[in-house]
Order: sequence, then C-alpha cells, then structure tokens
Amino acid sequence: MLPNYNTIFEEVKQPLANLDEWEHDVLERYPDPAAIAKDKTTEEFRNYKAPARDGVKEFYRLNHKYQTYEFVVAKKETFLAFNKKEMPVWSAFDFLNELVDDSDPDTDLDQMQHLLQTSEAIRNDGHPDWMVLVGLIHDMGKVLCLFGEPQWAVVGDTFPVGCAFSDKIVYSEFFNNNPDFTNEKYNTKYGVYAPNCGLKNVHMSWGHDEYVYHMMKDYIPEEGLYMLRYHSFYAQHREKAYNHLMDEHDHKMFKWVDLFNPYDLYSKNPHQKSWEELKPYYQQLVAKYLPLTFKF
Ligand SMILES: [Fe+2]
Ligand SMILES: [Fe+2]
Repeated sequence: MLPNYNTIFEEVKQPLANLDEWEHDVLERYPDPAAIAKDKTTEEFRNYKAPARDGVKEFYRLNHKYQTYEFVVAKKETFLAFNKKEMPVWSAFDFLNELVDDSDPDTDLDQMQHLLQTSEAIRNDGHPDWMVLVGLIHDMGKVLCLFGEPQWAVVGDTFPVGCAFSDKIVYSEFFNNNPDFTNEKYNTKYGVYAPNCGLKNVHMSWGHDEYVYHMMKDYIPEEGLYMLRYHSFYAQHREKAYNHLMDEHDHKMFKWVDLFNPYDLYSKNPHQKSWEELKPYYQQLVAKYLPLTFKF
C-alpha cells in the first residue's frame, strides 16, 4: 500500500504564481546566447543575474526536499498505471491552456502559445515532422496538475534520484533536507546504479517530462522520446554533471536533446501565426502519429 504523498506532505503549497515562473527562471539562468550577442537587452533577460524571486527559491526548496528515490518510485506506480481518466488529445491541450494564472502581469503567453511557438520554430527550420510534434506536446505532462499534484512534482529541473545529487543542480544546497542525502544507499556517486549503466536504468525526479515520455513512448521515434524525457535535465545538457551514468547510446541521443532545448527556451516570436491559421496543419500532424484519445 503506497503512502498518500499529497496528504503526508505538510508543504503542499504552490509557491509559484504559475508554472511558467519556473521556465522564466530557467531562461534567466541560461539566457539566449543569440540575443546577448546582439546586445538585445530584452525584458526577459533584464534580471538574469539577480537572485531568483522568493517563489522560485521556495519552489526549489520543496522540490529538492521531497523528490526522493522512494517518492519517484511511488509516483511512477500511481501515474504510469494511466487509469485516472481518458480524454481526447485536444481536450488535454484545452486543459493546459487553463493552467496559466492571469494574476501574473508578466505572463503574456499561455501554455498553448508556448507549445505553438516551439513547434513552429522547429517547423520553420525544416526539421522532421515528428520533431514538430514533439515541440507541440513536450509540456503536455503538465496535465498532472489536473490530479492536484503540487508544482514541485510537475515542473522544475529534473535530476537522477538514487545516487548523489550533483552540486551543479540549481540550489543544490537544498538537498541537505532530502532524506536520501544522508542515506548511504543513495548518497554515493553511483548509489543504486552501475557506472555508465545508461539513463534507461536511472530514475529521474518525477515531473511532466517523465510522464509525457511514458504517454508517448509507443508513438514517436526514439530521438523524440529523448527530447521529451530529458528536456528539463539541465544538469546534464548544460552542465554535463551525469556523464558517469550515461552510456554511449545516451550520448548519441543527447545530440537530439541539445537540438531541441533552444526551441523550448528561446522561440518566443511576436509574429506568431494564430491558432486558427495553424489548426489544419496540426490536426493532420496529431492524427498522423497519435491516437484519438489518451489515458491519463
Ligand atoms: Fe517542459
Ligand atoms: Fe516548454
């Protein structure tokens, strides 16, 4: 019998004004090199060296404290059963759109806009259509919020659990409060894993990346699945902190993760075509690869 993590945590609060606040913070940490090179001091980058807002810091405090090996295994058991709800793909998009909190004046893009900007930038660069689809669906795992999950179990940088937490992970000092930090089963370099065992054998912290990977794993080419599963694993794609767990195949596949990542972070386009205009293309694309409904 699994513990009910939503009730045993005393801290189920939602420190972020909305889920986008985490992404804004990632962008401040890794600003667009192209924009900096052009000396475009855009609004997005104005504070990137300043300390993150309190909500973001509090968010990481909770994330790093509660994402334990046991927590991840329990969440997988709960959510990868996919027995909660069945809905058409487009209903999931509608739901994602409702996630943004209008009280935040900084948020001018809703989730659907972010997905379309990502996918359209990929399409405009002439990449394969399955990668365009990955752009469109990469954040669909955020529907976890439908089930009342706390923000720190839906978004945030992801990292392996079951072995030592890298000090390259943002706010790594908060791992001191994670029970695995002092558990000798989990706190050595390799922990429960073997050297270069491959990421397929590694449990990542739980969130929207892992969830959407499992939703899509029968429908999308492997390169795309890596993009989905590791798109928030900044400790690896930016800091190379977990080479010791990766195998040759992971390294090959991470070239695709690296290709995808800038589209996720830097594809804001003020001249984005409207959904009405884009709809026919995306409807046929979704129909080409995905079933009509998904189980959640
Ligand atoms: Fe994401
Ligand atoms: Fe995203």
